Amino acid sequence: MNIIWTPQPRQRAFMQRKETEALYGGAAGGGKSDCAIAEALRQVHIPHYRGLILRKTYPQLSEMVDRSREIYSPAFPEAKFNDQKHCWTFPSGAKIYFGAMQHTKDRTNYQGKRYDFIDFDELTHFTWDEYSYLFSRNRPNGPGTRCYIRAQANPGGIGHGWVKERFITPAPPMTPIYDEVKIMFPDGKSELRRQNRIFVPSSVFDNKILMQNDPDYITRLASLPENEKKALLYGDWDSFSGQVFTEWRNNPDGYENRRNTHVINPFKIPSSWKIYRGFDFGYSRPFSVGWYCVDHDGRLYRIKELYGCTGTPNEGVRWEPSRIAREIKRIENEDINLRGKYVNGIADPSIFDESRGESVGRLMEREGVYFEKADNTRIAGKMQLHNRFAFDDEGVPMLYIFSTCKHFIRTVPALVYSQVDVEDIDTTAEDHIYDEVRYIAMANPINPPPKKQPQIMYDPLSTDDYKHYNYYRLG
Ligand SMILES: Nc1ncnc2c1ncn2[C@@H]1O[C@H](COP(=O)(O)OP(=O)(O)OP(=O)(O)O)[C@@H](O)[C@H]1O
Ligand SMILES: [Mg+2]
Repeated sequence: MNIIWTPQPRQRAFMQRKETEALYGGAAGGGKSDCAIAEALRQVHIPHYRGLILRKTYPQLSEMVDRSREIYSPAFPEAKFNDQKHCWTFPSGAKIYFGAMQHTKDRTNYQGKRYDFIDFDELTHFTWDEYSYLFSRNRPNGPGTRCYIRAQANPGGIGHGWVKERFITPAPPMTPIYDEVKIMFPDGKSELRRQNRIFVPSSVFDNKILMQNDPDYITRLASLPENEKKALLYGDWDSFSGQVFTEWRNNPDGYENRRNTHVINPFKIPSSWKIYRGFDFGYSRPFSVGWYCVDHDGRLYRIKELYGCTGTPNEGVRWEPSRIAREIKRIENEDINLRGKYVNGIADPSIFDESRGESVGRLMEREGVYFEKADNTRIAGKMQLHNRFAFDDEGVPMLYIFSTCKHFIRTVPALVYSQVDVEDIDTTAEDHIYDEVRYIAMANPINPPPKKQPQIMYDPLSTDDYKHYNYYRLG
């Protein structure tokens, strides 16, 4: 028999897992992507089987497609690849699609489709919203297929924080993690079900084929800067700290009922709600103005924004303070939620700095736009935002963002921790909107939400057939 691809021992361990979700990962070069390409083939004898392999962008995907040609063509000489659709069709009729999800909105390309097998290669390049959206697409197209999700990742990247929290922190590697999900049925009955997932570690030392073909590969990994070396050679998830606001959810299904999402549809706000205007000045970097209202429960809504960015991320439009002030006045006279309202201005205290002549604050006052000095205590401000992003048991947070505030939605979720001050955000990123919302949050402080009961369960004696063991709770 002519064997085209056979798993190496660690790849076999990954392929044997029965959990609904499994992450294969850590270090570079362990044979993760190869394994995903092979895994997708498992059910191609079933005519209605549909597999989907995702990468963040199409250029990245082309590497996977090239490798799929090397494996699929000799294994299934009659299988055909359609270059436009990025889709393999197998003799049975089964299909494997290769897809990209460059922007969160691209997820709608997958709306209404069903895939028995979904694989995310380089999962840390995806946001939680993108990953979780595809869960609803993991459904069978007919009887007899198995539905499951697989992913591969190295530490680092926008998704580092949530991936680590979901797969790495709750339990040691190779230990199943269980979530309880409550399902409400139309007849009012509810049922608790378990969902399981697992992390399977991988490193280049598991990939004997690569070590033979390219003995210098590990030398190259070892000569990387220290934190990259730790991540890519040894698969250390602690050397990068990743996304700051891992609580962030942008879930279009909740835009109208305002559940389990921070982004919501705009609405006409009641006239009794107090209005705030936050401001962070920038000239060669963007300036940011955000308008907020507070409801009677103390919940904040970001209702409008004016962001001085050229269109190139983090490049300012270079407006003088008086011009920004005039634009603020115009918006406050025209916007239906702001017209005729008293607006409490709060700004970065440094706008009142007089050391280089007339201050930005003074110049804006001349145009009739007034601000108070914000409390700029950085870590306390960040905690206030965590308190506000947290969802209560009903899926309601203490801070909502109108879907029209595009720049907030683009920049705040993308903030990552600083390598220098590990408690704080990386201020070299586009953090102007973050600063301005922080000032508003500090002017309206709230208590941290009550700590939720840990939901993670795990079985330290794990084998494949975990059902027969007694579970116990962590923490
Ligand atoms: N089972 C296998 N049979 C033959 N070759 C393999 C196998 N597994 C891995 N390889 C070889 O090792 C190379 C590296 O594997 P792969 O690209 O899957 O690693 P990776 O873990 O995805 O790496 P990265 O972290 O860079 O994404 C592949 O291009 C392939 O040549
Ligand atoms: Mg890979």
